[in-house]
Amino acid sequence: MSSSLVRPDAPFGESHGPMLTGNFAPISEELVLDDLAVEGEIPGDLNGVYLRNGPNQHFEPQGIYHAFDGDGMLHAAQFDRGKLTYRNKWVRTDAWIAEERAGKCLYSGIMSTHKGRPDLPLKDSANTDVIGHAGHAVACWYLAGVPYHVDPITLETIGRGDYIFGPGKGFSAHPKVDEVTGELMFFDYYHSRPHMSYGVVDASGKATHQVLIELPGSRLPHDMAITENYSILHDLPLYNDPDAYLAGRHKIRFDASLPARFGVIPRYGASETIRWFEFSPCFLYHVVNAWEEGDEVVMVACRYMPAMTPGNAIDEHRTARQIATLVMDARLWRYRMNVKTGETKEECLDPDLNVEFPGYDAARTGRKSQFGYLVDHDPKILRWTGIRKYNTDTGENVGAWSDDHDSCWYSEPWFAPADDQRSEDHGYVVTFVWNDSTREQQLQVFDALDLGQGPIARVRLPQRVPPGFHACFMKPNQIASWG
Ligand SMILES: [Fe+2]
Repeated sequence: MSSSLVRPDAPFGESHGPMLTGNFAPISEELVLDDLAVEGEIPGDLNGVYLRNGPNQHFEPQGIYHAFDGDGMLHAAQFDRGKLTYRNKWVRTDAWIAEERAGKCLYSGIMSTHKGRPDLPLKDSANTDVIGHAGHAVACWYLAGVPYHVDPITLETIGRGDYIFGPGKGFSAHPKVDEVTGELMFFDYYHSRPHMSYGVVDASGKATHQVLIELPGSRLPHDMAITENYSILHDLPLYNDPDAYLAGRHKIRFDASLPARFGVIPRYGASETIRWFEFSPCFLYHVVNAWEEGDEVVMVACRYMPAMTPGNAIDEHRTARQIATLVMDARLWRYRMNVKTGETKEECLDPDLNVEFPGYDAARTGRKSQFGYLVDHDPKILRWTGIRKYNTDTGENVGAWSDDHDSCWYSEPWFAPADDQRSEDHGYVVTFVWNDSTREQQLQVFDALDLGQGPIARVRLPQRVPPGFHACFMKPNQIASWG
């Protein structure tokens, strides 16, 4: 394998902005590698597949390229009784196939158009999130598009989930799977009224519930949560600037006069059964987990801290600009909503550390969990310098940096349970790490019970994994094609 594969470059030149050069430069090869040198040891009781999604532009883009534009590519690490296989492959979205046939880029990026404009179509790239459901991986897009089913082992695209509906006909990133029942809960959002839809897909992959959710206006939510009995939908004070939207330009607005609202709806509730709870204005990208405690719905999330003026008011303009460019300043935050009394409470779990992109034991999605695995944020876009295990009851945390953290770019870590999992954190944390100084790409495995000791296994990959978005871990019994 040529070492040139790990050297950052600029395959499309420098004219499309900074997000296609250096570490962000897309890679061009789809590989299957199973003879990789391991430093340390791949644990024998670590079995399943770690999957990570992210943008990887296929053809030279039209105009300015935004980090959210690239074609979705999955990187997979399959662990099978001490053996590791790495694979990477683009999701064969309808847009990817059309461009492959044409031999060129056919779509505009978010800096020059918006979703739904027929004259300048925006690509549904499936580049944001990946989650396991009904035996397959589901790759999906943050602006709500088609859920693409992918074989978690081969990374072959199987087809489109047929459970999209309503005015938006979309499926957002960050659906949630209840691993106890096998149901998947999802939302869609769109510019036209009523602005949001919510649905449930059963364990076999069939849509079983779909309702419209009325929001006060067009919004840009990013995530949702579930508990054993409820789903939690987000109405946050972030939306497309109306004038810019009409002109087809990309500009988002943060409105500090509006509260952040979370809507709690029974899993199979009708539209009018949703109950909204108001909190201090904020945006949030990602929920860690949610659950019920008596009459309270508890949600732990990474609250995006609004930028402030010198007079200590929310600086709406700067807040919007930071959100648009993924310059994150997030704190771990706990929200409590009493479904009987309507009472609310919000509290910061750790005022000091800027952490995001949470993973946890997915078997506990919607059930009480105590541990989250998050990344330390660098103000630089999509650069995460280390991983951190949080006790989300107390806010205590343990950090792990495998090398010089000024040089490292981590992927979203996910928890992988040990085969005979005996406690919530009995298992491993898996992530990709690119090191700027050594120009090395590694896959790293940490012991979740002792994250601070650093990686117990490092696997050197001959191909760079460009910075990306979300990941998941699928266990063998969740994978239809597992040998
Ligand atoms: Fe996200």
